Amino acid sequence: MPTELRSRITGTGSYVADGVLTNQDLERIVDTNDDWITERTGIKERRIASREVASSDMAAAATRNALEMAGLGPNDLDMIICATVTPDRQLPATAAYVQRKIGATSNCASFDIAAACAGSLYGISIADSFIRTGRAKHVAVIGVELLSRVLDYKDRNTCVLFGDGAGAMILSADQGESGVLSTHLFTDGSLTDILHIPAGGSALPTSAETVERRMHYVRMEGRDVFKYAVKYLADAAKVALDANAIGADDLSLVVAHQANIRILDAVSKRLGISLDRFILNLERFGNTSSASVPLALDEAVRGGRVHSGDTILMIALGGGISWGSAMVRW
Ligand code: ACO
Repeated sequence: MPTELRSRITGTGSYVADGVLTNQDLERIVDTNDDWITERTGIKERRIASREVASSDMAAAATRNALEMAGLGPNDLDMIICATVTPDRQLPATAAYVQRKIGATSNCASFDIAAACAGSLYGISIADSFIRTGRAKHVAVIGVELLSRVLDYKDRNTCVLFGDGAGAMILSADQGESGVLSTHLFTDGSLTDILHIPAGGSALPTSAETVERRMHYVRMEGRDVFKYAVKYLADAAKVALDANAIGADDLSLVVAHQANIRILDAVSKRLGISLDRFILNLERFGNTSSASVPLALDEAVRGGRVHSGDTILMIALGGGISWGSAMVRW
């Protein structure tokens, strides 16, 4: 009897720039120090792309790696979903630039989604819906951020947290036992103001005044974000475990958004899942928002931490506030 159509992650890829910004470097830029950053966040360094690089360049590099692992070419793709809050331009979609740069044909629908750090999970959920209903066979889901372009390097509350990077996943139609088991997405729009970029959009277009007041940079209420992150990431994990009747002990790996080691520690305690089973790379890359989960997944895959039959839980939360989960059998 044929089993149901599923989307399986057949390839992963990532890209980070060579440029490293360490905590010691930041000590020379803002009033901070390595001890404070390490203790409060777990971050030691982050990658910063050079000026001529755009988000689509990093996204294209990550997608090429993922396609190679999947054994596919650009013309096999039916869809490119690019999750980013740092697009190349407001118009057109960064995904369209990625399509051009990897050389995919016009049969491939390409569009962006903005769900901040949860963006890649929103992308998996959309790709999974198209694949399960037979409307797409191979979909590239990319998370990419060039956050260094929207950070205020005079604001120590934010500039120490983030880095640049890209991660990509190829989801392909399959009828086996492995693949995406579930996705759950949530947003609380009453919390838009705790993490946002005030100016540069239709609500407050860029002007000399907004630039003067540094309103085109990320602003964040860190303590509020922390509180909601712990609660909602744990909630998202529980929803995914319940929906699949999977116990926390049965999880092989948790690929969580790499925001802050204290957030992940608190989430691991709430779930009763040891941090050993979490992929951790925030020490080296900081918070790369939309890129965070696919970048961590790619490191795990290429580092030999993922095996056939593994049950993997992905959870992420970011500006919106938007959050979600994806449960995957490898
Ligand atoms: N270096 C030194 N001191 C600093 C720095 C810094 N980089 N940043 C803030 N401080 C100071 C503050 O000014 C404050 O000083 P004061 O007491 O004299 O006023 C003091 O440190 C404590 O500030 P808090 O904001 O209370 O520090 P907290 O312990 O909450 O840590 C942090 C701040 C790390 C931002 C924490 O709130 C956090 O991790 N929040 C989550 C934010 C996050 O991860 N955002 C990413 C986007 S959303 C996501 O990915 C989940």
